[in-house]
Amino acid sequence: MNTVVELMCAHRSIRQFAQQPISPGQLEQILLAAQSASSSSFLQAVSVIRVKDMAKRHQLVRLCGEQAYVASAAEFLVFCIDFHRHRSLVPTAKTGYIEQLLIGAIDAGLMGQNALLAAESMGLGGVFIGAIRNDPEGVSQLLDLPELVVPLFGLCLGYPAQSPDLKPRLPLQLVLHEEQYQAPDPCQFAAYDALLAHYYRGRGETGPVRGWTDQLEKILSKEARPFMFDYLKRRGFALK
Ligand SMILES: Cc1cc2nc3c(=O)[nH]c(=O)nc-3n(C[C@H](O)[C@H](O)[C@H](O)COP(=O)(O)O)c2cc1C
Repeated sequence: MNTVVELMCAHRSIRQFAQQPISPGQLEQILLAAQSASSSSFLQAVSVIRVKDMAKRHQLVRLCGEQAYVASAAEFLVFCIDFHRHRSLVPTAKTGYIEQLLIGAIDAGLMGQNALLAAESMGLGGVFIGAIRNDPEGVSQLLDLPELVVPLFGLCLGYPAQSPDLKPRLPLQLVLHEEQYQAPDPCQFAAYDALLAHYYRGRGETGPVRGWTDQLEKILSKEARPFMFDYLKRRGFALK
């Protein structure tokens, strides 16, 4: 493995941070790396909002399900899909298509991962915050987001104050399909369930042993964020 691949494979989310700032030079490099990600049709359909103000950070903690690290991280960045910029430049631009939502979401994901990886290469750590979508109207108001701008995820960054174990991923043979899709055999997941249960126990979790399948049953037993479709339509997305 070369050092870049080693770094990628050593990723773990960091949720406890030292009280040490990220230098302006480091942050600039992280954002340059983020912007260097590929962009679908080169639309560059993403804006990043850096939230420094601690009063706002504490409001974001509340809006993100009381995740304290949104405030304790040295930096908090909100990655937003942004077609407002395009509409400002080209007032006749046609917007509102599901495909544009996909384009923006993919661009943002690529940028976010580049940002986190760049940070990790500097000895920093971080965690994405999908809970930024728990109350998207509240976040939109707090960050003064115009129409055609939607917050997709946050990113906490800072110097790690913890060293969590690596979280085991699915075995590659269950993810990689040769030539054509191969329907999964549920029996093949038993060993992975056991591995993940072992990982959770190692994290000090008590209670019933949880594997990946148990997690899926819980998470997929109900619709997540049922307000999202209407919110997106109000922001000018997912109309057609
Ligand atoms: C888009 C996205 C949103 C996430 N949202 C949260 C979040 O709100 N809170 C959190 O603690 N972790 C969040 N995570 C982190 C995942 O829980 C974590 O990546 C996953 O459990 C794998 O663990 P690892 O990153 O340590 O390998 C998010 C990850 C992604 C990619």
